[in-house]
Amino acid sequence: MDWGMQNRLNRLIGSDGRCFFLPIDHGYFQGPTTCLEKPAQTIKPLLPYCDALFVTRGVLRSAVDPGIDKPIILRVSGGTSMVGKDLANEGITISIQEILRLNATAVGLSIFVGTDYEHQTLLNLANLVNQCEDYGIPVMAVTAVGKEVGQKDARYLALACRIAAELGAKVVKTYWCEKDFDKVVDGCPVPIVMAGGPKCETELEVLEFVYDGLQKGAIGINLGRNVWQNPHPVAMAKALQAMVHENATPEKAFQIFKDVKNSEKA
Ligand code: 5RP
Repeated sequence: MDWGMQNRLNRLIGSDGRCFFLPIDHGYFQGPTTCLEKPAQTIKPLLPYCDALFVTRGVLRSAVDPGIDKPIILRVSGGTSMVGKDLANEGITISIQEILRLNATAVGLSIFVGTDYEHQTLLNLANLVNQCEDYGIPVMAVTAVGKEVGQKDARYLALACRIAAELGAKVVKTYWCEKDFDKVVDGCPVPIVMAGGPKCETELEVLEFVYDGLQKGAIGINLGRNVWQNPHPVAMAKALQAMVHENATPEKAFQIFKDVKNSEKA
Protein backbone atom coordinates (compact mmCIF):
# COMPACT_ATOMS: atom_id res chain seq x y z
CA MET A 1 0.00 0.00 0.00
CA ASP A 2 1.23 3.48 -0.79
CA TRP A 3 2.69 5.49 2.12
CA GLY A 4 0.01 8.18 2.04
CA MET A 5 -2.88 5.73 2.08
CA GLN A 6 -1.26 3.72 4.89
CA ASN A 7 -0.50 6.85 6.87
CA ARG A 8 -4.10 8.01 6.64
CA LEU A 9 -5.41 4.59 7.69
CA ASN A 10 -2.99 4.59 10.63
CA ARG A 11 -4.35 7.95 11.73
CA LEU A 12 -7.88 6.52 11.72
CA ILE A 13 -7.21 3.12 13.21
CA GLY A 14 -5.04 2.97 16.33
CA SER A 15 -1.97 0.80 16.84
CA ASP A 16 -4.28 -1.60 18.71
CA GLY A 17 -6.18 -2.07 15.44
CA ARG A 18 -9.31 -0.46 16.89
CA CYS A 19 -11.23 2.75 16.26
CA PHE A 20 -14.04 4.92 17.58
CA PHE A 21 -15.41 7.20 14.88
CA LEU A 22 -17.96 9.83 15.91
CA PRO A 23 -20.57 10.50 13.21
CA ILE A 24 -22.14 13.95 13.21
CA ASP A 25 -23.35 13.70 9.62
CA HIS A 26 -27.04 12.99 10.17
CA GLY A 27 -28.15 16.52 9.25
CA TYR A 28 -27.28 15.92 5.60
CA PHE A 29 -30.68 14.28 5.12
CA GLN A 30 -32.39 14.64 8.54
CA GLY A 31 -31.91 18.37 9.03
CA PRO A 32 -31.50 19.58 12.63
CA THR A 33 -31.53 16.14 14.23
CA THR A 34 -32.26 16.01 17.97
CA CYS A 35 -29.09 16.93 19.88
CA LEU A 36 -27.37 18.05 16.67
CA GLU A 37 -29.16 21.39 16.44
CA LYS A 38 -25.87 23.10 17.23
CA PRO A 39 -23.21 20.66 16.08
CA ALA A 40 -20.30 22.62 17.59
CA GLN A 41 -21.79 22.22 21.05
CA THR A 42 -22.33 18.50 20.54
CA ILE A 43 -18.88 17.86 19.15
CA LYS A 44 -16.68 19.81 21.57
CA PRO A 45 -17.03 17.75 24.78
CA LEU A 46 -16.91 14.43 22.89
CA LEU A 47 -13.86 15.12 20.76
CA PRO A 48 -11.26 13.89 23.28
CA TYR A 49 -12.79 10.40 23.36
CA CYS A 50 -13.14 9.58 19.68
CA ASP A 51 -10.48 8.75 17.09
CA ALA A 52 -12.07 10.57 14.14
CA LEU A 53 -15.05 12.76 13.28
CA PHE A 54 -17.42 11.84 10.45
CA VAL A 55 -18.94 15.11 9.18
CA THR A 56 -20.18 16.95 6.13
CA ARG A 57 -18.22 19.90 4.78
CA GLY A 58 -20.91 22.25 6.11
CA VAL A 59 -20.50 21.04 9.69
CA LEU A 60 -16.74 20.89 9.30
CA ARG A 61 -16.47 24.50 8.18
CA SER A 62 -19.04 25.89 10.61
CA ALA A 63 -18.54 23.82 13.75
CA VAL A 64 -15.05 22.33 13.86
CA ASP A 65 -11.92 24.25 14.82
CA PRO A 66 -9.33 23.84 12.03
CA GLY A 67 -6.70 23.68 14.78
CA ILE A 68 -7.86 20.28 16.01
CA ASP A 69 -5.65 17.27 15.59
CA LYS A 70 -8.38 14.70 14.91
CA PRO A 71 -8.69 12.98 11.58
CA ILE A 72 -11.74 13.99 9.58
CA ILE A 73 -13.83 11.53 7.61
CA LEU A 74 -15.74 13.67 5.16
CA ARG A 75 -19.29 12.67 4.19
CA VAL A 76 -19.31 12.98 0.40
CA SER A 77 -22.68 11.52 -0.59
CA GLY A 78 -26.13 13.03 -0.32
CA GLY A 79 -28.79 14.87 -2.31
CA THR A 80 -31.86 13.45 -0.55
CA SER A 81 -34.00 14.34 2.46
CA MET A 82 -36.36 12.69 4.95
CA VAL A 83 -39.32 14.24 3.13
CA GLY A 84 -38.16 13.46 -0.40
CA LYS A 85 -39.14 10.53 -2.58
CA ASP A 86 -36.36 8.08 -1.81
CA LEU A 87 -33.45 8.36 0.58
CA ALA A 88 -31.45 5.93 -1.50
CA ASN A 89 -31.26 8.28 -4.51
CA GLU A 90 -27.87 9.69 -3.53
CA GLY A 91 -25.09 11.17 -5.60
CA ILE A 92 -21.55 12.24 -4.84
CA THR A 93 -21.69 15.76 -3.41
CA ILE A 94 -18.03 16.75 -3.19
CA SER A 95 -15.22 17.05 -5.70
CA ILE A 96 -11.78 15.56 -5.18
CA GLN A 97 -10.37 19.12 -5.07
CA GLU A 98 -12.67 19.93 -2.14
CA ILE A 99 -11.69 16.70 -0.36
CA LEU A 100 -8.04 17.71 -0.67
CA ARG A 101 -8.71 21.37 0.21
CA LEU A 102 -10.39 20.27 3.45
CA ASN A 103 -7.47 17.96 4.24
CA ALA A 104 -9.82 15.03 4.82
CA THR A 105 -8.13 11.92 6.16
CA ALA A 106 -10.83 9.74 4.60
CA VAL A 107 -14.20 10.03 2.94
CA GLY A 108 -17.50 8.26 3.57
CA LEU A 109 -20.32 7.51 1.16
CA SER A 110 -23.54 5.51 1.44
CA ILE A 111 -24.50 2.57 -0.71
CA PHE A 112 -28.04 1.22 -0.86
CA VAL A 113 -27.87 -2.42 -1.85
CA GLY A 114 -31.24 -3.98 -2.64
CA THR A 115 -32.96 -0.70 -3.47
CA ASP A 116 -33.95 0.98 -6.74
CA TYR A 117 -30.70 2.95 -6.45
CA GLU A 118 -28.37 0.04 -5.90
CA HIS A 119 -26.62 0.43 -9.26
CA GLN A 120 -26.29 4.20 -8.97
CA THR A 121 -24.91 4.16 -5.44
CA LEU A 122 -22.51 1.30 -6.12
CA LEU A 123 -21.14 3.20 -9.11
CA ASN A 124 -20.88 6.27 -6.85
CA LEU A 125 -18.65 4.17 -4.63
CA ALA A 126 -16.56 2.79 -7.48
CA ASN A 127 -16.08 6.24 -9.02
CA LEU A 128 -15.16 7.76 -5.68
CA VAL A 129 -12.60 5.02 -5.06
CA ASN A 130 -11.12 5.65 -8.52
CA GLN A 131 -10.63 9.32 -7.70
CA CYS A 132 -9.46 8.87 -4.14
CA GLU A 133 -6.93 6.14 -4.95
CA ASP A 134 -4.99 8.69 -7.02
CA TYR A 135 -4.42 10.72 -3.86
CA GLY A 136 -4.11 7.95 -1.29
CA ILE A 137 -7.42 8.75 0.42
CA PRO A 138 -9.29 5.85 2.01
CA VAL A 139 -13.00 5.45 1.30
CA MET A 140 -15.40 4.24 3.99
CA ALA A 141 -18.55 2.70 2.55
CA VAL A 142 -21.67 3.16 4.63
CA THR A 143 -24.07 0.28 4.10
CA ALA A 144 -27.28 2.25 4.44
CA VAL A 145 -30.50 0.32 4.25
CA GLY A 146 -33.57 0.88 2.15
CA LYS A 147 -37.08 0.53 3.52
CA GLU A 148 -37.62 -2.91 2.04
CA VAL A 149 -34.63 -4.72 3.41
CA GLY A 150 -34.05 -5.87 6.96
CA GLN A 151 -31.08 -4.03 8.42
CA LYS A 152 -30.59 -6.69 11.06
CA ASP A 153 -30.35 -9.60 8.65
CA ALA A 154 -26.84 -11.07 8.47
CA ARG A 155 -27.25 -12.32 4.92
CA TYR A 156 -28.16 -8.85 3.69
CA LEU A 157 -25.43 -7.14 5.70
CA ALA A 158 -22.82 -9.66 4.53
CA LEU A 159 -23.85 -9.07 0.92
CA ALA A 160 -23.67 -5.29 1.19
CA CYS A 161 -20.35 -5.29 3.09
CA ARG A 162 -18.69 -7.70 0.70
CA ILE A 163 -19.80 -5.73 -2.34
CA ALA A 164 -18.46 -2.51 -0.78
CA ALA A 165 -15.09 -4.12 -0.16
CA GLU A 166 -14.96 -5.62 -3.66
CA LEU A 167 -15.54 -2.17 -5.14
CA GLY A 168 -12.59 -0.79 -3.22
CA ALA A 169 -13.79 0.53 0.14
CA LYS A 170 -10.96 0.44 2.69
CA VAL A 171 -13.36 0.33 5.66
CA VAL A 172 -17.03 -0.65 5.75
CA LYS A 173 -19.57 0.70 8.19
CA THR A 174 -22.52 -1.55 8.85
CA TYR A 175 -25.05 -2.49 11.48
CA TRP A 176 -24.59 -5.10 14.16
CA CYS A 177 -27.02 -8.02 14.06
CA GLU A 178 -27.86 -10.46 16.80
CA LYS A 179 -27.46 -13.62 14.74
CA ASP A 180 -24.41 -14.47 12.64
CA PHE A 181 -22.64 -11.12 12.85
CA ASP A 182 -19.39 -13.10 12.66
CA LYS A 183 -20.43 -14.16 9.15
CA VAL A 184 -20.80 -10.53 8.15
CA VAL A 185 -17.28 -9.79 9.41
CA ASP A 186 -15.70 -12.97 8.06
CA GLY A 187 -17.14 -12.42 4.59
CA CYS A 188 -15.68 -8.94 4.31
CA PRO A 189 -11.98 -8.65 3.43
CA VAL A 190 -11.64 -5.14 4.86
CA PRO A 191 -12.27 -3.91 8.43
CA ILE A 192 -15.82 -3.38 9.64
CA VAL A 193 -17.05 -0.70 12.01
CA MET A 194 -20.51 -0.74 13.58
CA ALA A 195 -23.11 2.01 13.46
CA GLY A 196 -25.64 2.27 16.24
CA GLY A 197 -28.90 3.23 14.56
CA PRO A 198 -31.69 4.96 16.50
CA LYS A 199 -31.13 5.45 20.21
CA CYS A 200 -31.53 2.23 22.24
CA GLU A 201 -33.66 2.16 25.39
CA THR A 202 -30.81 1.48 27.79
CA GLU A 203 -27.07 2.13 27.90
CA LEU A 204 -26.38 -1.50 28.66
CA GLU A 205 -28.14 -2.54 25.47
CA VAL A 206 -25.68 -0.42 23.47
CA LEU A 207 -22.65 -1.63 25.41
CA GLU A 208 -23.69 -5.26 25.00
CA PHE A 209 -24.11 -5.10 21.25
CA VAL A 210 -20.87 -3.21 20.80
CA TYR A 211 -19.04 -5.78 22.93
CA ASP A 212 -20.53 -8.66 20.99
CA GLY A 213 -19.60 -7.08 17.65
CA LEU A 214 -16.03 -6.46 18.78
CA GLN A 215 -15.70 -10.06 19.95
CA LYS A 216 -16.92 -11.16 16.53
CA GLY A 217 -14.26 -9.17 14.72
CA ALA A 218 -15.49 -5.63 14.11
CA ILE A 219 -12.57 -3.24 14.61
CA GLY A 220 -14.65 -0.51 16.18
CA ILE A 221 -17.63 1.75 16.06
CA ASN A 222 -19.07 4.64 14.13
CA LEU A 223 -21.70 5.40 16.71
CA GLY A 224 -23.70 8.59 16.77
CA ARG A 225 -27.19 8.82 18.23
CA ASN A 226 -26.48 6.36 21.03
CA VAL A 227 -23.70 8.67 22.16
CA TRP A 228 -24.88 12.23 21.65
CA GLN A 229 -28.60 11.63 22.20
CA ASN A 230 -27.83 10.08 25.56
CA PRO A 231 -28.51 12.56 28.38
CA HIS A 232 -24.90 11.92 29.46
CA PRO A 233 -22.98 11.87 26.19
CA VAL A 234 -19.51 12.22 27.71
CA ALA A 235 -20.16 9.31 30.07
CA MET A 236 -21.30 7.23 27.13
CA ALA A 237 -18.29 8.22 25.03
CA LYS A 238 -15.88 7.33 27.85
CA ALA A 239 -17.57 3.96 28.37
CA LEU A 240 -17.37 3.16 24.67
CA GLN A 241 -13.77 4.32 24.42
CA ALA A 242 -12.87 1.88 27.22
CA MET A 243 -14.67 -0.88 25.42
CA VAL A 244 -13.03 -0.21 22.05
CA HIS A 245 -9.50 0.46 23.25
CA GLU A 246 -9.24 -1.30 26.61
CA ASN A 247 -11.44 -4.32 25.95
CA ALA A 248 -13.77 -3.33 28.79
CA THR A 249 -16.68 -5.72 29.27
CA PRO A 250 -20.21 -4.29 29.14
CA GLU A 251 -20.35 -4.43 32.95
CA LYS A 252 -17.06 -2.57 33.34
CA ALA A 253 -18.03 -0.03 30.67
CA PHE A 254 -21.42 0.51 32.34
CA GLN A 255 -19.63 1.16 35.61
CA ILE A 256 -17.52 3.80 33.84
CA PHE A 257 -20.72 5.31 32.46
CA LYS A 258 -22.28 5.46 35.92
CA ASP A 259 -19.13 6.87 37.56
CA VAL A 260 -18.81 9.66 35.00
CA LYS A 261 -22.53 10.40 35.16
CA ASN A 262 -22.42 10.63 38.97
CA SER A 263 -19.32 12.82 38.90
CA GLU A 264 -21.18 15.23 36.58
CA LYS A 265 -23.84 15.66 39.27
CA ALA A 266 -21.34 16.29 42.05
C1 5RP B 1 -26.04 8.63 8.94
C2 5RP B 1 -24.83 7.80 9.04
C3 5RP B 1 -24.24 7.67 10.36
O1 5RP B 1 -22.87 7.99 10.26
C4 5RP B 1 -24.37 6.28 10.89
O2 5RP B 1 -25.69 5.83 10.73
C5 5RP B 1 -23.95 6.17 12.33
O3 5RP B 1 -24.76 6.88 13.17
P1 5RP B 1 -25.80 6.21 14.17
O4 5RP B 1 -24.97 5.45 15.20
O5 5RP B 1 -26.54 7.35 14.77
O6 5RP B 1 -26.66 5.27 13.37
O7 5RP B 1 -24.32 7.29 8.10
O8 5RP B 1 -26.40 8.66 7.67
